[in-house]
Amino acid sequence: MREAIGIFDSGVGGLTVLKALRKRLPEQDYLYLGDTARLPYGSKSETTIRRYALNAAEHLFRNDIRLLVVACNTASAFALPALTEISPVPVIGVIEPGVRAALAGGARKVAVIGTEGTIRSGAYQKALHRAAPEVSVTAAPCPLFVPLAEEGWGDHPITDQIAEIYLRPLLDTGLEAIILGCTHYPLLRPSLARVAGPGVSLIDSATAVTDAVVQRFRGPSAGRGGVGQVAIHLTDASDRFRRIARAILGSDPEHLEVVDL
Ligand code: DGL
Repeated sequence: MREAIGIFDSGVGGLTVLKALRKRLPEQDYLYLGDTARLPYGSKSETTIRRYALNAAEHLFRNDIRLLVVACNTASAFALPALTEISPVPVIGVIEPGVRAALAGGARKVAVIGTEGTIRSGAYQKALHRAAPEVSVTAAPCPLFVPLAEEGWGDHPITDQIAEIYLRPLLDTGLEAIILGCTHYPLLRPSLARVAGPGVSLIDSATAVTDAVVQRFRGPSAGRGGVGQVAIHLTDASDRFRRIARAILGSDPEHLEVVDL
C-alpha cells in the first residue's frame, strides 16, 4: 500500500491514534505497525528504545508511507530527533501536540503520566517548561497502566485502585490537567476520569496528535472522498492483540500481517 499514513507504536496503544485519525481523515490509507514482539518499550533503556523506534520507522519507509506518526510517547521521547533525521517524509510525534492541547485548555497546574522511560526522559517536562515557564509541572511514571490497558481493564475496580495510588499525590497538589503521556492510557479513561474527578481535564495523546496531523498534513488526496484502507503489521500476532484491537477499532482488523523488522 503506497502513500499511506504510517503509524507505529509498541503495541495496541497507537490504535487509539489510528481510530482518531480515521475518523477525521477517513479517505486516507493507513499502515499501522505494532512492535508487539518487543513490547513494552517503556521499561527499556534509551539506546534500545531508539534502536527499536528506528527499526519500526525503517519498516514503514520501505512501504513508501507519505507521513510518519510516532504514536508512542516513549519512542517520541527518546527517538524523535533521530527519526526526523533519517526520515524521507514528515514526522509527527505525540509530545508537542499533547503539550499544546494541555496549555490550550488554560491549565496552570499540569501533571504528566507515562511509562518509566517517557517520564525519565523529561521530554514532556522540558517541552511544557519551554512553552509556558509559568506553568507548574509534576510527573509520575505509571508502569502498571500499560498491562491494565492491554488486559482491557479500562473500566475496572482494580484500575481505579491502582490509579488512586499513582494519581493521589498529584491530585492533592490541586491539578487542573493530566497529560496521558502514553497512547495506551486513553483506554483507561473511564477509571482515570473517575479517580481524577470532574475538575481535572485528561489530555489524550491520540486526540492531540490527530489534531496536529489534520492541521499539518494536507496531502494531495485529502478530501478526495471515499474510505481508505487500513493495513496492520505486527511483529507478533497474538489472540490478545486481536481481542483488544477489536475492542478499540470496533471490528476485526482486516489486512493483518506478521512482519520481521
Ligand atoms: N504506548 C507506548 C507509549 O505511548 C508505551 C507502551 C510501552 O511501554 O511499550 O509510550
